[in-house]
Amino acid sequence: MRRKLIAGNWKMNGSFASNEALLSDLRAGLGSDVACEVLVCAPAPYLMQCADLLSDSDIAWGAQDVSVHISGAYTGEVSAAMLADCSCSYVIIGHSERRAYHGELNELVAQKTLRALASGLKPIVCVGETLEQRESGLTNAVVRAQLQAVLDVIEADALADLVVAYEPVWAIGTGKTATPQMAQEVHAVLRQQLALKNVTSAANVRILYGGSMKPDNAQELLAMPDIDGGLIGGAALKAADFLAIVRAA
Ligand code: 13P
Repeated sequence: MRRKLIAGNWKMNGSFASNEALLSDLRAGLGSDVACEVLVCAPAPYLMQCADLLSDSDIAWGAQDVSVHISGAYTGEVSAAMLADCSCSYVIIGHSERRAYHGELNELVAQKTLRALASGLKPIVCVGETLEQRESGLTNAVVRAQLQAVLDVIEADALADLVVAYEPVWAIGTGKTATPQMAQEVHAVLRQQLALKNVTSAANVRILYGGSMKPDNAQELLAMPDIDGGLIGGAALKAADFLAIVRAA
């Protein structure tokens, strides 16, 4: 049985003051019997704030990107070892915003995944098609190619630490959501592909849905057999909304 993971992707939002308020509301609202795993992915300057405010809680924290390099003269980059130093558990890799605005290609995403795994971080590898690709019938081919690049470089036993997030680009920040059936179809394709790497481990890999997940659609999405959680943008910035999604999981 896969334990669901509800992950907030704060993107480039927040401040010390607003994070403190959000995290304190999340802690207060979460209670002690949370069925799912809860994670917040904060901008790098706030990871130690998360460590300070969450270390004695049931909420984990993680980063939104990682450098492909180990260390050295790479101005502005943040290494996997540094994220591990901040006690991050997870790191988002290959988000569509990184792919679109920073030219990240499948091979780079795969190499970053290796770096994360080597430092003991659990990578959340994002895949997803654009509207144009969906309308051209390319959805499965696109997400398969994105996932395959990662599967080609990792060891089969690394599947134990891998999380995949299906985020249709057209659903991100737009208020448009894939229907539960549309999302489930893609999640099943991804699960089949993971099984080609290792059948037993593939059954345990969490595949998250992301793209305008909100309190009012979370329950039906999370009820699908291969949807094992959510990667949440906008709604993760409001404690009440994020908590409602956590309760739906
Ligand atoms: P929204 O929930 O704002 O659509 O963002 C989804 C996302 O990109 C999470 O990584």
